[in-house]
Amino acid sequence: MDMLLTEIDHVAIAVRDLEGAISWYQEVFGATVEHREVVDSDGVAEALLRVADSYVQLLTPTTDTSPVAKYLEKKGEGLHHVGYRVANCAEALEAVKASGGRVIDEHPRPGSRGTTVAFIHPKTSFGTLIELVEDHGGH
Ligand code: CO
Repeated sequence: MDMLLTEIDHVAIAVRDLEGAISWYQEVFGATVEHREVVDSDGVAEALLRVADSYVQLLTPTTDTSPVAKYLEKKGEGLHHVGYRVANCAEALEAVKASGGRVIDEHPRPGSRGTTVAFIHPKTSFGTLIELVEDHGGH
């Protein structure tokens, strides 16, 4: 079969202090912020720092009930999910479901920066929360 994951889109890291984390990447590695967004539906604020054709996505909760707030409470700061680029989010999500896998999003939905995304449950993907990312703008 064809490989459905075409690239790593982003590695998402949950942090308590978004500005502090951005500054650290800037000062230590010379990183630049390419995009910032508040995603109200997910209760997060994010900053994307470009690394070649991928991003480091720094994530912080904007509400106490945000899944990222719960994650920080339970596990502390650190790797939150990996976003893989796919040509077709619906097709990749179907492949997971067809294999009997558990998904968080039954259907693809809008993600940040105009992407279409769907999350796979970490119980299915060996402990890693996976986000399938279809980028219509060609990153
Ligand atoms: Co993400």
